[in-house]
Amino acid sequence: MTDLDLRAKVRLLTGASVFTLAPEPAVGLHEVRLSDGPTGVRGLTFSGGPVVSLFPNATLLAAAWSEDVAHEVGRLLAEEAMAQRIHVVLGPTINLHRSPLGGRLFEAYSEDPLLTGRLAAAYVRGMQANGVAACLKHLVANESETDRTTVDSVVDEATLREVYLLPFEIAVAEADAWSVMAAYNDVNGVPATEQHHVINEILKGEWGWTGLVVSDWFATKSAAPAANGGLDLVMPGPDGPWGDALVAAVGSGAVAESVVNDHVARLLRLADRVGALGTPRAWPADLPAPDSPTRREQLTRLAAAGMTVLTNRAGALPLRRGETVALVGRHALETIGMGGGSAQVNPPHQVSVTDGLTALLGTAVTVTDGVEVRSRPVPARPDFLTDLRFTLRAGDGSVLDTRGGAATVVGFDDGLAGRVATIDVEGRFTAGGPVEVGGIGAGSWRLRAGTASVAHDLAVPAGGFGAEILAPPAGTSVVTVAPGDVLSGSVTLPAGHGPLSGVGRYAVVARPAPRDADEVIAAAAAAGAAADVAVVVVGLTEEEETEAVDKHTLRLPGRQDDLVSAVAAAARRTVVVVNAATPVLMPWRDEVDAILWVGLPGQEGGHAVAAALLGDVEPAGRLVTTFPAADGASPAWSVTPVDGKLPYTEGTFVGYRGHHAGRASEPAFWFGHGLGYGAWAYADAAWSGDALTVSVTNTGGRAGREVVQVYFAPSEQDQPVRLVGWQAVEAAPGESVTVTVTGDRRLWRRWAGDGWATLSGSGRLLVARGLGDVRAAIEV
Ligand code: BGC
Repeated sequence: MTDLDLRAKVRLLTGASVFTLAPEPAVGLHEVRLSDGPTGVRGLTFSGGPVVSLFPNATLLAAAWSEDVAHEVGRLLAEEAMAQRIHVVLGPTINLHRSPLGGRLFEAYSEDPLLTGRLAAAYVRGMQANGVAACLKHLVANESETDRTTVDSVVDEATLREVYLLPFEIAVAEADAWSVMAAYNDVNGVPATEQHHVINEILKGEWGWTGLVVSDWFATKSAAPAANGGLDLVMPGPDGPWGDALVAAVGSGAVAESVVNDHVARLLRLADRVGALGTPRAWPADLPAPDSPTRREQLTRLAAAGMTVLTNRAGALPLRRGETVALVGRHALETIGMGGGSAQVNPPHQVSVTDGLTALLGTAVTVTDGVEVRSRPVPARPDFLTDLRFTLRAGDGSVLDTRGGAATVVGFDDGLAGRVATIDVEGRFTAGGPVEVGGIGAGSWRLRAGTASVAHDLAVPAGGFGAEILAPPAGTSVVTVAPGDVLSGSVTLPAGHGPLSGVGRYAVVARPAPRDADEVIAAAAAAGAAADVAVVVVGLTEEEETEAVDKHTLRLPGRQDDLVSAVAAAARRTVVVVNAATPVLMPWRDEVDAILWVGLPGQEGGHAVAAALLGDVEPAGRLVTTFPAADGASPAWSVTPVDGKLPYTEGTFVGYRGHHAGRASEPAFWFGHGLGYGAWAYADAAWSGDALTVSVTNTGGRAGREVVQVYFAPSEQDQPVRLVGWQAVEAAPGESVTVTVTGDRRLWRRWAGDGWATLSGSGRLLVARGLGDVRAAIEV
């Protein structure tokens, strides 16, 4: 490092591209390659990257309540990274589920800091044991998306430390994560990328952490305050707010050169840890391909592990082989395997519930499409519009690029920002009849579909930073075409706009015209009545569960509630599969026989759902977040800043902690709830020292897995109940097992203003299957 002059050092502290860091031969530094993210290692581009494995989403993985599962996921993601020679994977996301409206909760494990921190630590260990760095994100108080680059999260110090920093503290202490990402938002009036208090004082100071702090992408707002605040690396590059400005700040004395040296030292340490310093690392060969039998088995098993039985009357589940099944719902046909935003990947396939259940039951299954589940159109499917091609042209008409597929991102990481004037599109319909045709992306669309003309002028989205890619505008019309008809035309892009000027996601829409919802519901009810059992698959889509946008209701979109009620009224038995990562309202919960929550189950999702429905694997998950009974019935609800501020007024009473204290009504389903396919009796609970022992007996008819959860309700009135430990156990029918759960001492601390104080220790220990089903209470 001493060999480098100031300018050379500063050059290293901003990325060389969107997902790479600059090499520096003078110090033996090779290029360092980074990739998102939590549900798969997407590669070095935001879109159009290589085919990679799509993992189950974070809430589904977390619902296994298993450090072994988290560790395996970390290890497999490291393999996915090594196959692409990637050194740093930008995950796990360990923000908490504060308000259930948070659009990005699907990426984050849970509403509880201990569960989140322990799982994160296991994931990081699994990953970093392979010399691939994990990146804990997003530090800190980044629990919602509305105005995400400007919002000021107002959080008192005790809440910050006891709740929102705790997962970071655990993952640093127990796994020594090699990097951390500073968030977009401000915290108590100071940008997260300039947080001297959080980064320098707590993370690098009190916790003695030696890793690298990278900014979230485009998050850095300044040179000197960010550099002095502890931020080590600005992403993406090569441009950004450091460079010459940071050199000048050192020249003027605003930033000490020793500060720059520390950032560079941390960067080189990271490079050393991942094998990008000195002799370059060896990369393993023969890693499993994304569609290999090995990956398919792993991803099916991992998805099934977290699936959670919410209700199950009269043994409606598991389904019985030999019975006929009416499978119903748009999500049965187009199962949602991942959320939207930077966690998206390009998977080899996505197995739908239809594919999965049909593979096991064959002709015993009939499939009926459900009602519309999106309010915005989606890109054309290649089996409906073939030979689709985009031609990107400059203002003089010259061709800049040509691309296949139904959707493309322009200007983000292709060097074409602001250079594309028009995009020509061309494709061919495989089917005829009334079709919905149009475009996605800001600009003037002029299309011809067969003999019909379609025109839409779409304004730049007002959704703020990232909306150009994640929530672009769309316009469609219904026209009639014949099979083989050509779709052609172009979109003229708007002149420069916003922070991502010249960037946008563009897609062509072409699909059968929507059917009347009443007719769809009637057909589904008739199908349900004709079978032994109806399985209705409902859920959310990437419109609700996405980066950059929050929800405004927990209601299922479209008329899915009507669909469920109609089928339940007509069918002998009705099972509902909920294909969503986060809470939804279930007004029909007492009308149906069973509810299985399956998260966003990844590329093998349909196989995992089928195995869980039939009991080939026990869906032994437990909820990782509380499902409120109604919109607003949650200790923290609004995610809309007022005058730029989002106060965390519920303090440490987030999620189940607040429900238990009566700060919100009884939830529909508690954090920790999940029935599995077993039945369990608890006896002889005792507490001594830091450990609880309890005997659990499998009183059901099949081998099963139980998750023994221990909560502590302190006698101090201002202290909420909190999870202090858990232990999973497997037992055969009739078998009793003595389970020991060690309480985590960090849950007996409170922040006393200038340091940690220990709680009195008096209160109640609750042994529970979620706080709605307490099996033992011990006064301590
Ligand atoms: C997200 C990060 C992500 C980064 C790079 C940002 O928009 O907030 O989580 O790692 O983009 O894609």
